[in-house]
Order: sequence, then C-alpha cells, then structure tokens
Amino acid sequence: MRPAAFPLLRLLADGEFHSGQDLARSLEMSRTSVWHVVRDLDAAGLTTHKVRGRGYRLVDPPQWLDRERVYAMLGAYGAQFEVVILDCVDSTNTALLDRAAAGAPHGLCLAAELQTMGRGRRGRAWHSKLGHALTFSVLWRFNQSAAFLTGLSLAVGIAIARTLRTVGVTDIALKWPNDVLWKRRKVAGTLIEIQGDVLGPCAAVIGIGANLKLSAAARARIGQPAADLSETDQDVPDRSALLAHLLAQLAQVLHSFGADGFAVLREEWENLHAYHNETVQLMLPDGQAVDGRVLGVDGSGGLLLNTAAGRQTFHVGEISLRGLL
Ligand code: BTN
Repeated sequence: MRPAAFPLLRLLADGEFHSGQDLARSLEMSRTSVWHVVRDLDAAGLTTHKVRGRGYRLVDPPQWLDRERVYAMLGAYGAQFEVVILDCVDSTNTALLDRAAAGAPHGLCLAAELQTMGRGRRGRAWHSKLGHALTFSVLWRFNQSAAFLTGLSLAVGIAIARTLRTVGVTDIALKWPNDVLWKRRKVAGTLIEIQGDVLGPCAAVIGIGANLKLSAAARARIGQPAADLSETDQDVPDRSALLAHLLAQLAQVLHSFGADGFAVLREEWENLHAYHNETVQLMLPDGQAVDGRVLGVDGSGGLLLNTAAGRQTFHVGEISLRGLL
C-alpha cells in the first residue's frame, strides 16, 4: 500500500462519505492520487463505496489499535512493556528480531495494524487482513540458555488460553506444541524465535497471531480447520483491550516460566490439551508419521506418546488427525 493509505483510512474511519476534494485537501494530494490510494485499499481487500457527488465511504472500517487504551487496560502490568503500534510492517517478528539484535529492551512489544508478510511455524505464511486480526510480538530476555526455553511455546499457549477464557470464550483448547483452538479449529498461533548464546543469556521474540474475523478466501488459504473470535458468540473485547489482556497474562506466565521453567505449568497445559489421551498422528519434520496415544507432556514441553515402540518423547513435529480419519 502507498504511504497515504493509512492517513486516508483514518479519515474514512467513521464509515461516512467523504468527498474526493475534502480528502485531497486533508492529505495534501491531488484527487487523482486519492483515487489511486482508494484503489490500493480495494486491492488490500477493504471495500469502499464510491458514489458520484458524495465521494468515498469505507464499508467496514477497521478497528484501530489505541496505545493509550492498551496502557489504561494494562494497569500495573504496563510498567513491564513498551508497546509500539506500527501501521504496516512485513512481520512483527522480523522487525522485533532486528531491534533485539540492536539491543532493544526487554518487554518491547511491536503490534501491527497490518502485516504484509506474516510468518508462521515451519516456514509457513500467516495471513491477516487489516483490522481482522491481532498480530504482535514481544521481546523477553532470559538469563538462562536457549535449552531452557524448550517449553516456552507451550507456556505462551497457556497465556493465550487463559486470556480467552477470562474474556468469556469457552471451548478453548491447545494443540501441541502451540496452536490455540476454538472448537478444535485453530484460532491463534505462536511463533517463537530465539537469539543469543548457547550458554545464555538469550532473548525470545514471541509472536502471536489471533484471528478476529476470517473471510472465506482466508479460510481457504489457511489449509487447516480455522476459526475466528467473531464466531464464538462472545462479546470479545476490542483489539486494544484484547492486546492488553494478552500482555497481562503473558507477563504472569513468563515470570513464572523464567523463575521455575515449564514444569510448574505442565499440569495446566495438559488439562488444556485438546488431544489428551487421544490417538493422534505426529508428523515429523523429515516427513515420517508416528501414531500414538497422547500421554501428556514432560517437564520441558516434549510430547509423550504411547506408540507401537512404547513410550516416546518428541520435541519436534505437528499433531495431525488426517492420517487417522
Ligand atoms: C503459527 O501458528 O504457525 C504461528 C503463527 C504466528 C503468527 C504471528 S503474527 C505476529 C508475529 N509475526 C509474524 O510474522 N508471525 C507472528
């Protein structure tokens, strides 16, 4: 999108008609340039009404993140974070990794209105539309080495599940290692990337993406059963409030994890696991599939399966149910 897209979007945020002339004046550009920017918005999936004599109107104005509101909702937890809201970025994880390498402080949180190249686990893309998702990353520095962080993604899953339950969403569960499910469909995911010395200390960039509203096209692209929070029939808080709730829960879980490791969170995680005691298929990175009954997770977050070869622990892979249907 052109740089003028976000200023234009903010002018159109009230959902009312604005004449091309007024917009051109406010944006200090020609009416033709305004028309080009509106076309960019259409290309980005935002619907605009164009009516001769009345101008342009945004049909479904995005809900903006509001930094002041995030801090007001965070209360005392606000002291633990530096929240920066970006209009548009390729990926909050990529941007935060760069800032972390340059010495960014513990607790820096980059949240984006729009990600153009959101990344998921295992090299996948994470798609989100403007205003229809919550996408942010948090930098958390640990004194320990990277080996200590093996259960971190599971711990983050707990923070997300606690948040969604706190705001009234029922039927939330987790899928090893770090998918968050609503009615067994993925509603949020986490991408954790570690920087630092083998012996420690190290820094974790914790990226979280939550679906607030998915279009049919987005669902088709995702390639696995997906859900969004608008389906839950709950009055889900606005994006700023949701971000604040998530940060507050993250602060609690990350402190507990940093002090005592994953072991203290293990039982809570197992109670949240959608497939506890169920037979699943684990797809390993080399393409092999292992069938087994889920026994739980160990103190470092490894998945315990009862397989044909006996009890085995896995630290990589993805649970799939496809091969078992
Ligand atoms: C997954 O489930 O595969 C992980 C998805 C993680 C997506 C989030 S959105 C914010 C942050 N920035 C990224 O590029 N990815 C993560």
